[in-house]
Amino acid sequence: MEDKQPVIIPVASGKGGVGKTLISVNLAYALANLGKKVILMDLDFGGANIHTCMGYSVAPDGIGNFLNQRNSKLPNYILSTGNKNLSFISGDAEMVGIANITAAQKKKLISQIFHLDADYIILDLGAGSSYNTVDFFILSSCGILVAMPELTSILNAYSLLKTSVFRRLFLEFKSIPEMKDLFNEQIKKGGEDAWKVSELLQMIKNVSPATFLKARYFVNEMSPKLIINMATSPSDLEMGEKIRKISHSFLNIDMEYLGFLYRDKNVHDSINKRQPLAVSNPTNQTYQSIAKVAYKIASLNKLQKSSHDYEDYEEILDEITEDLPSKISGYSELADENLISINDLVALVTNQEYENLMLKKEIESLKKQLLQYGKKA
Ligand SMILES: Nc1ncnc2c1ncn2[C@@H]1O[C@H](COP(=O)(O)OP(=O)(O)O)[C@@H](O)[C@H]1O
Ligand SMILES: [Mg+2]
Repeated sequence: MEDKQPVIIPVASGKGGVGKTLISVNLAYALANLGKKVILMDLDFGGANIHTCMGYSVAPDGIGNFLNQRNSKLPNYILSTGNKNLSFISGDAEMVGIANITAAQKKKLISQIFHLDADYIILDLGAGSSYNTVDFFILSSCGILVAMPELTSILNAYSLLKTSVFRRLFLEFKSIPEMKDLFNEQIKKGGEDAWKVSELLQMIKNVSPATFLKARYFVNEMSPKLIINMATSPSDLEMGEKIRKISHSFLNIDMEYLGFLYRDKNVHDSINKRQPLAVSNPTNQTYQSIAKVAYKIASLNKLQKSSHDYEDYEEILDEITEDLPSKISGYSELADENLISINDLVALVTNQEYENLMLKKEIESLKKQLLQYGKKA
């Protein structure tokens, strides 16, 4: 048999109610409509509700039951949908009781997810930065983050991303004693006093240059995708720019835009009908935008690199001689002295970066004008 691993697409958000389920469900249909074999999984331990979109009034046995039964097999929980390419695994009432799943349960679930027979597995996750979300989000280097164009949603998404980077590095290197000490220290510090990723990398470099290379590779490999949902005007795109800038500056992570969805009153009608937009209203604008996202995903050659394949990290050897650029300017000293909060710092840097961006645009447009002037003269 062909040893083909499915591409995992976790869908997460820092804040609840931003449209993860809407996007997960319709993305699953859209990929299935492209001829891909898709399994949609409800991994929202706090508010599983995919079954309602699929027309079930009571949740069928799903993830909770799977986790509570000994020797259970995930494929036995797969349910069919009206689309022959799409099946789903429901959340269920038993999930609520195990809001904090054990490490053993998580391991069992994750290893079986990777063995499911599908092209794509979409994971509809719970909101927030708990490890129940983060540990599934980092199953792929290309998870989807959904955020609304408002500051709290953006900052919560940023927190989730930050926790994900640190967690990814922790899980990778915790077996190395010096690394474990380093991470324990970081975890103890926690919250707003925690290090920036560039600082953590610097510390890793001091302890173990070889580990630093790998760690740096893992950070570089992380390539989360962003969807802005419930926008009301094109200018809401700027909110997306904010999180991209912050992630670049503080986490060394480049986020890519995957989509931009408007607030759409037809979405409610589809919820009331207990049918996904993909079925009840496939010509709907929101569904069409999600279908474009599906097309982009299906066109990406290597959406998900294997997390254990870091042969090409040699490529970054050249860069190791350079010192890590200190990306945080004088502002961070203000935060260190507790003169401003991390939120203020983020806003400051963002404004600064935004101004730089505008300045660059202005210079570019001036250049163009000069060129045209030159042609005319
Ligand atoms: N683009 C949109 N336009 C209008 N309503 C939306 C949109 N996206 C989501 N919603 C609505 O917002 C609510 C939360 O969406 P949901 O997908 O359940 O979020 P989450 O899974 O992130 O908690 C739902 O009532 C949903 O119908
Ligand atoms: Mg949801």
